[in-house]
Amino acid sequence: MSSIQYTQSATLLERAKKVLAGGVSSEFRKYNHPHAIFYTHGKGSRVYDADGNEYLDFTLSQGPLILGHSHPRVLEAVQEYSAQAQLFAGQHIKEIELAETLNRLIPSAELLRFCLDGSEAVQTAFRVARAKTGRQKFLRFEGHYHGWMDNVCWGISAPSAEALGNREEPSVYPWTEGLPEHSKDEFIILPWNDPELLKQTLAVRHHEIAAVITEPVMCNSGCIQPEAGFLQTLRQLCDDYGIALIFDEVITGFRLSLGGAQQYFGITPDLAVFAKAFASGYPISAIVGRKEWMDVIANARVIHAGTMNTSNATVAAALATIQVLEEEQPYERMFAHGRRLMDGLQRAAVQTGHHVLLQGPGPMFHIAFTDMKKATDYRDVLSFDKAKLGRFIAGMHDRGIRVIGRGLWYISAAHTEEDIDHAVHTAAAVMGSM
Ligand SMILES: Cc1ncc(COP(=O)(O)O)c(C=O)c1O
Repeated sequence: MSSIQYTQSATLLERAKKVLAGGVSSEFRKYNHPHAIFYTHGKGSRVYDADGNEYLDFTLSQGPLILGHSHPRVLEAVQEYSAQAQLFAGQHIKEIELAETLNRLIPSAELLRFCLDGSEAVQTAFRVARAKTGRQKFLRFEGHYHGWMDNVCWGISAPSAEALGNREEPSVYPWTEGLPEHSKDEFIILPWNDPELLKQTLAVRHHEIAAVITEPVMCNSGCIQPEAGFLQTLRQLCDDYGIALIFDEVITGFRLSLGGAQQYFGITPDLAVFAKAFASGYPISAIVGRKEWMDVIANARVIHAGTMNTSNATVAAALATIQVLEEEQPYERMFAHGRRLMDGLQRAAVQTGHHVLLQGPGPMFHIAFTDMKKATDYRDVLSFDKAKLGRFIAGMHDRGIRVIGRGLWYISAAHTEEDIDHAVHTAAAVMGSM
């Protein structure tokens, strides 16, 4: 067993609980090992906590830190532009530069608007789709996370795969108390990666549906890639029925390529949402889309607003992050490092007698303890051995490697081959001890 201590974090958590509900500012932060951890600083692939522990970080703060922690170019840009002003709540030139950059890079980004986070941008996309089509519902998929607002807080938790019932008319469960009952009526939900079921459903109910929203890679339940032809089928059906195809690129954006999953897979949605990886941890997101859809915002049929939108720091951070990504082109490296890590984890499992399933494109991927050879949807994910995964993640954490509790790993441009090999070596030791 390692001798790592979490005593400072434990003390700080008790103090925090007296003033912060549950001691944290986002629910997910509670589920760290062995409890919420308090961090002091981060640099490159490493992050440090209040007990002085150093972690090789594969959480990248839930994804945003694609360049690693504290990239000097980002910090410099933020400092310089924030010194001029912090928030105009009016227009500024760098905001146009950023919009022009996204317009140049992202296939569907003919027009766009900036917001603060992914959740907000998703809701804006729904509003656009409803206004243009005159229809009320959106269709979404089991296990896909689209933020924490009422109408998407269903279908992301379930007691078991069996409890989801039949595939044609799945049961949905609320993720939280306090949801208005009617928020369940805003969507139709289906298992993912099932083109025939989608065809059947849309054939009957298309007149109700304003939008279909999907994570292009299901990263919030496992890390599952679309089956060959699935995204093409989605595109075709949405075209056939005049439905908005929305890609939720909050994770895939700037992570699979500079043009997002839409460039990576060669499928252009009508609307898409970007957040996380495009500003190195500063709060900015974008709803982007084809002009014919985004025109409803341009001509003020749809209202989108926000006092804090495009503050100087966030715009400077986004511009600097994208500039570094364009100059460095780290994608080949991130894919190679991700695959090396996936292969290494698989080898470590075989050597230590565990059965794991590693899935994902590389820059993000997922590890599950299961006998399954492949997972294709949320129902498969629900059968993974969560308790064993929890022991693995805790063991890694106790040895200085930070991985998201649900088994998702993010690779940054700052990770080196030595980092990857160190993680594999540590994983072998942890699995060996399990
Ligand atoms: C695919 C996806 N969509 C939307 C969101 C919500 O984004 P935010 O947490 O920035 O509101 C997330 C957050 O993890 C996400 O992964």
